[in-house]
Amino acid sequence: MSALAAENKTEYEEKEQHTSETETSSATSAKSETSKDINVESSQSRKHKRSPDRERPSKVAKHDAEEDASSASTNVPSDLTTSGSNEKNKDTTDANRSLDNTVLVADHYNALEEKGLSQRNQSRIVYMRNFNNWIKSMLINEYVVKVRQGKSFGTSLKVLDMCCGKGGDLLKWKKANISHLICADIAQVSLEQCQQRYNDMVNKKGSKDRGFAPIFSAEFITADCTKVRLREKFADPSIQLDFVSCQFAFHYSFESLSQAECMIRNASESLKPGGYFIGTIPDAYDLVSRWQNCDGHKFGNDVYNVEFLSEDKTKPPFFGAKYNFHLDGVVDCPEFLVHLPTLCKLALKYGLELVAFERFEDFYERFKNEGRSLLGNMQALETYPPYHEAPLLGDPERDYHHAVEYMQNLPANHRKIGTLSQSEWEVTSLYAVFSFRKMKTIWNSEGKPEYIKL
Ligand SMILES: C[S@@+](CC[C@H](N)C(=O)[O-])C[C@H]1O[C@@H](n2cnc3c(N)ncnc32)[C@H](O)[C@@H]1O
Repeated sequence: MSALAAENKTEYEEKEQHTSETETSSATSAKSETSKDINVESSQSRKHKRSPDRERPSKVAKHDAEEDASSASTNVPSDLTTSGSNEKNKDTTDANRSLDNTVLVADHYNALEEKGLSQRNQSRIVYMRNFNNWIKSMLINEYVVKVRQGKSFGTSLKVLDMCCGKGGDLLKWKKANISHLICADIAQVSLEQCQQRYNDMVNKKGSKDRGFAPIFSAEFITADCTKVRLREKFADPSIQLDFVSCQFAFHYSFESLSQAECMIRNASESLKPGGYFIGTIPDAYDLVSRWQNCDGHKFGNDVYNVEFLSEDKTKPPFFGAKYNFHLDGVVDCPEFLVHLPTLCKLALKYGLELVAFERFEDFYERFKNEGRSLLGNMQALETYPPYHEAPLLGDPERDYHHAVEYMQNLPANHRKIGTLSQSEWEVTSLYAVFSFRKMKTIWNSEGKPEYIKL
């Protein structure tokens, strides 16, 4: 963390120090702010194909946060390891409040139009979306490799994609050569589109004839993963999973303790010992920091904005810390801060130990070389300067200073680099990847589960 960010330490961060017994150094590093250049890479002038050599990070602007004051903080037990007190918190106020928000979220995603590839490619944030997909691909690959270590490529892997949406990760799971996928989402329309996409993959003309390996089997469950025990809905409730993946969605569960707990239990209880719970969420420290550094309670740019509804910037509650997130035609609904130490405590309660919490920019740094050709194939960075026929998507005057600066330090024969516009980077740099590992379960003399490290 820079000196400046350290000076800005907030009560939200203080809370972490008092509550975290499980925090690891990787969790701590999540707070680090970056003002490196985010992106750029260089590539020689290949038409339409970028193959980033390097990134330039953009400046992560400011940081901030919010909360939905209501009653959430008063509902939070100081000791999350006491399940009795968790039960008490399932009060009716919470239940009513969450009913509204989950319905809002489901309605929002159900109403999102399914856009074809060409429409998606016209989006102002197409590179950021591709970049986020690249992050997910690399994350999935990182943990598939870990699980497969010492096993053959053909080893059958079973996965739950919790909050799968329209099935944006189906192809990633196909590439990972898994054998079974369970898809669950609250938004029925999205789930139907996911199932259709899966059917299209299965029936893809010629794939069988050309001798490709058969695609994984799949099942589809419409459910609120913050309120329903998913295992009871699985075709085989005794299934043992290798992965649970929850991409860009886990933060919806932090509306209340009971919802967060339900989601974590869903992630944990069908995982094999040594299996992984992986995902992507906004980094609450960054959100709070941006909030604190803005005038008022709303910040953002031409592609996104975040509005906190609470007046008090210093004490967001552990649960129910609500903000409205708007992203260029993709997301427009209430979300909740995920206080990392609280998440770690809850996860431990269900036998999940934190392996990593890493901001996108750090993850990118770690994988940019290994994932370079995929960055190019996925068109995850924008070419700068642009080709004539492909004008910049961002504001040429405002959004590419980092790229200009970066290029000044490159050898003269580097004519093109890959980058994200400043506006897109300000959004994607809010996010972090996480991973938890399922511990070994033993049963104590009272018949209760206890967890031990593998
Ligand atoms: C931003 S989208 C991400 C979709 C997908 N994971 C991806 O990365 O493309 C968030 C998804 O979470 C789902 N979601 C939100 N709250 C949920 C809940 N309580 N239970 C199940 N799904 C939920 C939404 O319906 C939506 O499909």
